[in-house]
Amino acid sequence: MRLQTVLPILALAAATTLYAQQAPITDAQAKQFADSLLEKMTTAEKVGQLEQAAGQYTSREQADDLTVKGQVGSFLFFTDPVRINELQHIAVTQSPHHIPLLFGYDVIHGFRTIGPIPLALAASWDPTLAEHAQAMAAREASAAGINWAFSPMVDIARDPRWGRIMEGAGEDPYLGEQMAAAQVHGFQGPYIGAPDHILACVKHFGGYGAPFGGRDYDSVDLSEDALHNVYLRPYHAAIAAGAATVMSAYMDLNSVPATGNRWLMTDVLRDQWSFKGFVVSDWEAVKSLTTHGLAQGPADAAARSFTAGINMEMTSSLYREQLPALLQSGAIKPAQLDDAVRPILALKYRLGLFTNPYVDLDRYKAEQVSTAQRESVRRAAEQSAVLLRNQDSLLPLSKSLKTIAVIGPLGDSGVDTLGSWSLHGNPADTITVVEGLRAKLPNVNLLTTKGVEITRGQPSIFDDQAPEPKPTLLTDQARAAEFDHAVALIRQSDLAILVLGEAQNMSGERASRATLTLPGRQQQLLEAAVATGKPIVLILMAGRPLDITWAAEHVPAILEVWYPGTEGGNAVANLLTGAAVPSGKLPITWPRSVGQVPLFYNTNLTQIPEASATRYWDESSAPLYPFGFGLSYTSFTVSDLHADPGLTTTGKLHATVRVTNTGSMAADEVIQAYTHQRAGSASRPVRELRAFTKIHLAAGESRQVPLTISASDLRYWSPATHAEVLEPGIFDLWVGDSSEATEHLQFTLTQ
Ligand code: BGC
Repeated sequence: MRLQTVLPILALAAATTLYAQQAPITDAQAKQFADSLLEKMTTAEKVGQLEQAAGQYTSREQADDLTVKGQVGSFLFFTDPVRINELQHIAVTQSPHHIPLLFGYDVIHGFRTIGPIPLALAASWDPTLAEHAQAMAAREASAAGINWAFSPMVDIARDPRWGRIMEGAGEDPYLGEQMAAAQVHGFQGPYIGAPDHILACVKHFGGYGAPFGGRDYDSVDLSEDALHNVYLRPYHAAIAAGAATVMSAYMDLNSVPATGNRWLMTDVLRDQWSFKGFVVSDWEAVKSLTTHGLAQGPADAAARSFTAGINMEMTSSLYREQLPALLQSGAIKPAQLDDAVRPILALKYRLGLFTNPYVDLDRYKAEQVSTAQRESVRRAAEQSAVLLRNQDSLLPLSKSLKTIAVIGPLGDSGVDTLGSWSLHGNPADTITVVEGLRAKLPNVNLLTTKGVEITRGQPSIFDDQAPEPKPTLLTDQARAAEFDHAVALIRQSDLAILVLGEAQNMSGERASRATLTLPGRQQQLLEAAVATGKPIVLILMAGRPLDITWAAEHVPAILEVWYPGTEGGNAVANLLTGAAVPSGKLPITWPRSVGQVPLFYNTNLTQIPEASATRYWDESSAPLYPFGFGLSYTSFTVSDLHADPGLTTTGKLHATVRVTNTGSMAADEVIQAYTHQRAGSASRPVRELRAFTKIHLAAGESRQVPLTISASDLRYWSPATHAEVLEPGIFDLWVGDSSEATEHLQFTLTQ
């Protein structure tokens, strides 16, 4: 690379605040710009814009060459700002029409500073927090030259066997909608091209979260009812919030692979939802249309995916190889090619890349793992933790404890504290639970050891980024000695904190499971710890609900911290000591055992509903913890529900409820409103979340909390009419602190 030519440009970049322009560019201006450029571009150059190459698998020479020739529109996986500036410089000075590049990256829960995983963010039930978290992630990523996040993942997931449940907002369409829109706003800011913001990419369109058996990439078969009323709703919310791009899913939806699914990509996305951005395929998903049996070969795969509505191809370069001939044969019309390229050029223009594509290296240095970034992820981790059990108020920890054992394979592991999809996160930046507690409790004697080791024992998709650690306890004897050592430390302590769950590579992509047990010998360790008679606190670190039915009866305190990120240990220490009070609520129903899944709260009422908890004879069919559940160190009462007696089809229902903090600590509480439509053209779920609000109450404080439900929120897609309906009639309303809320009223929807 001709570095001499780059240096003056980099120096200029460092001197000013650059990278994105300050004023919004309108759709019309961007379209006009793109159209005038399209008039000048050759077919090969247009096709080049539709190519996204994998930075990690493209040599320096190849990347430079593709860029010089205008044969690539985007790279993914570059993270070095110097290299990104170099490539942008080649693109804007040497490629035929000086078109800058999009640099995409999986900014899922942070770039270098890692926040809690998206499922955890959803557990905060605080869309403002999620928006702020993604805005901070965008800030850090944009400083490195990344202008496009492959996030948020808005796939509804109701089966915790599916490893990617950690990347979304859980099981509920309403909570999913709120989190989807908030994250899009966080990434993109007030307008596309706003300083320090980047493009969002909503993925994986659509229905990817419901593979058979929770097996990643397996087929998805969803009724129209489930699609419209559940799975597509967060997508629609994200598009309505202005998401610039969408990623197509890997699997087939009702036997038509998503990447070749014209109904999804064109009829729904563009025609019904008026999406104006562009769609990128998932990794090699265009090529795999042949594997799926939708395409007869490479040309057919390119044609099917292109005509379905996939603008950009991630990594498999079939567009580059096949589109020219398809255009020549007339299978694809030149106008169709222009339509595919136009939104890519328009978004590059709106981002300000044509004005200045470079990043400022001083800003880059200042932004990475800054104090503000750390503060933001610590607060997010505190707000995301869910207190599942706290018998006899074992938490917060008593100040009189002198010796505490901190035991478990995840207690002092930076990489696991970060969690999956933290590819650019650095374990060296990360505060583990042990480190957080040491800093918080300098006068307490902390005794720590792993007790057991856990390994996945099967390659993970991210092994080249974070290889599976090699076990250090190689013999049975060494393993037994370590186990006994851990129990001995617990015996010497006043209280033990066990940090158990899943290593980061046990959750995420290609990380589905057939069981939900604590991996390895963690359950035995937990039982041995309880058998010592010492008070035990279980900290769960995982990307999915695990089978903790035994613990729920025998372990007095259980705190779910998910994968809490770079500041995880400090957040956990604050939560354990009461410097922060848990307020998270489950965004998923917590099953008792894997045999119950999929298990979710908003099922339909059917035969003998009073026996809905005894649908199995060998296991309760009730969850271990319901959707929306989470305890606090204080206690709240919810009473005096009042609501309008009814509303019209264009109106709003106003309800209020009295919430009182009856305990002795100030804390946050999430108040949730659910409805049920008693009769209609189809069965309606027993309860559906319609509104929620997070409030802060001082000890002893009592407040009337307002909640509003719009009539339009009561619409649903009816399988009877194959259309959205809003059906007058009687509805139930419940308000409370979980999906088992008991304050109840009924109201009537009239024309
Ligand atoms: C995943 C996407 C991700 C892409 C690029 C794929 O395997 O399914 O979620 O954005 O890789 O890393």
